[in-house]
Amino acid sequence: MSNWEKSGWRSKPRVQMPDYPDEAKLNAVEAQLSKYPPLVFAGECRRMKDKLAAVSRGEAFLLQGGDCAESFAEFSADNIRDTFKVLLQMAMVLTFGAKMPVVKVGRMAGQFAKPRSAPTETVNGVELPSYRGDIINELAFTPEARIPNPENMLRAYTQAAATLNLLRAFSTGGFADVHRVHAWTLGFTERDEAERYRDMANRLQDALDFMSAAGVSGTTHKDMSTVDFYTSHEALLLEYEQALCRTDSTTGVQIAGSGHMIWIGDRTRQPDGAHVEFARGVSNPIGLKCGPSISADDLKVLMQRLNPDNEAGRLTLIARFGAGTVGDHLPKLIKAVREEGANVVWSCDPMHGNTIKSASGYKTRPFESVLREVQEFFDVHNAEGSVPGGVHFEMTGQDVTECTGGVRAVTDETLSDRYHTACDPRLNASQALELAFLVAEEISQRRPQQQAAAE
Ligand code: PEP
Ligand code: CO
Repeated sequence: MSNWEKSGWRSKPRVQMPDYPDEAKLNAVEAQLSKYPPLVFAGECRRMKDKLAAVSRGEAFLLQGGDCAESFAEFSADNIRDTFKVLLQMAMVLTFGAKMPVVKVGRMAGQFAKPRSAPTETVNGVELPSYRGDIINELAFTPEARIPNPENMLRAYTQAAATLNLLRAFSTGGFADVHRVHAWTLGFTERDEAERYRDMANRLQDALDFMSAAGVSGTTHKDMSTVDFYTSHEALLLEYEQALCRTDSTTGVQIAGSGHMIWIGDRTRQPDGAHVEFARGVSNPIGLKCGPSISADDLKVLMQRLNPDNEAGRLTLIARFGAGTVGDHLPKLIKAVREEGANVVWSCDPMHGNTIKSASGYKTRPFESVLREVQEFFDVHNAEGSVPGGVHFEMTGQDVTECTGGVRAVTDETLSDRYHTACDPRLNASQALELAFLVAEEISQRRPQQQAAAE
């Protein structure tokens, strides 16, 4: 892109980014990171964009999920594997249940930096700067821990590289082979959801057995034994993003090397701000969070800036309004997209508009609100004749009690049993599966409508 430089964001207003007290150390880290290999390569991002273009046409579905914030303390092969397993299960429910190809994307291998609702946090009368994610400072409530440390970027890079390496191994090394569909269930999955999943997996297994008995070639084909899996994160810490930005040698385009897809958060989407400036120049698929405060005019300006060529698959609009309010916001944004003739993917984040403080003091999300927002998202798109393309959610393969409700019926009182998140409350495996079943049902119900419309 002409008139763009990877450092151009530095002259724009920035919000939600740390002020590093040690500038020399910051410069040294940036110089070092700039020499490191990128984590992803341009061809992969192009391929992902093609898949998202299919999503924008209603021919595939986007499944994007993972941690609110990855952390250094919880970094382990088991955690990566278990989150990946839940995503594979959800993808199977959608592919087999809704007969829809699924674009699988993790909030993984780079999801470290967090925007915060307040710059400081007060505990027992002591006020300290907020925790902003492990790539910036530490969660411990001490003045030293909260000082932004540029060296955390190097550690985040190393963790992201190792995470991505394992994800690539799982995706292509046999772990994700569809014949292993039963092996992805985690031991603690609630009975109802585990049984529902097992029934579907059995039907899939029968179909595979039939095909192989009938001599249909292809059940051992690469498409059945591997998956394409992409990484994504919020591109919040622009020093890190710039240091990993690279020029693709075959096409000359700029690419954010930190992950396949990056998104702009709801708090950092100012059209003239630093984050939009950085994202507009890299050719990765871009996500844009759309919360209650975005106007139709803002959205038009942002679409123009982030996707001037109206490339399908380039821009994913991630709606996050809160249950009960989708109908107040989404229709006017869909209208703005239609007026512009813009190609976008519409995705639903039913998490960030539904965070509340429980009576027991924990930050939580009622699972009923999560499901309701997804339902409203589908209802509005069905009424408007637009395409509900995907879901974006926070979940973990760990056995946590962070969101209330669901088949396990986590209550206010039991939230403290296994509340492990460093940031926002995540869905556990059972809740994530329940969400996938709801989405699969919604997609299946749309099909007769679509066919009727086509006839
Ligand atoms: C997030 O996705 O973790 C997040 C902070 O979302 P939003 O920008 O929509 O609040
Ligand atoms: Co979050």
